[in-house]
Amino acid sequence: MKLRRADIVFIMLIPAVVLCLWLLTTEQTTLRIPADETHSEALQAFRDDGKKAAEKVCRTCHAADRQPLSEQHPPGYRCMFCHKPAPARAGAQGGDP
Ligand code: HEC
Ligand code: HEC
Repeated sequence: MKLRRADIVFIMLIPAVVLCLWLLTTEQTTLRIPADETHSEALQAFRDDGKKAAEKVCRTCHAADRQPLSEQHPPGYRCMFCHKPAPARAGAQGGDP
């Protein structure tokens, strides 16, 4: 059987879909960045300058000597790829949905 271009595109799509599903499910279960005083600076950096800027702030606290990540924690190069900000600022708009 000869593969047509459309077949190849379809085959390449399968891992992409699997990856998307995986990302969607991890987003739902991974801890969110708490919307507390402690995280306000990092969250402000996220709003102003995006994820990479915020992740530099994360590391000022979540390092081996202060507030370390657990043994089982996955490699944490891109914190905000997995940890999304918590949805509501408690109190600001009448608390949790
Ligand atoms: C100023 C220091 C500081 C910075 C900066 C900081 N954290 Fe934290 N983080 C803490 C402390 C302390 C705790 C534990 C107490 C708490 O929840 O505030 C914590 C807890 C957490 C938790 C666990 C929350 C839970 O529900 O148990 C996650 C996830 C987290 N931080 C992610 C991040 C990410 C991602 C960033 C960067 C965007 C970040 N933190 C920046 C100090 C910090
Ligand atoms: C590949 C996805 C991923 C990345 C990247 C990631 N984390 Fe996590 N993190 C997790 C998972 C999964 C847990 C386990 C708790 C849970 O069920 O959410 C977790 C837990 C945590 C906790 C709670 C304490 C602990 O260690 O279990 C903190 C704090 C935390 N992460 C901070 C960070 C910071 C800061 C970064 C960036 C340096 C980061 N994470 C990057 C997936 C990730």
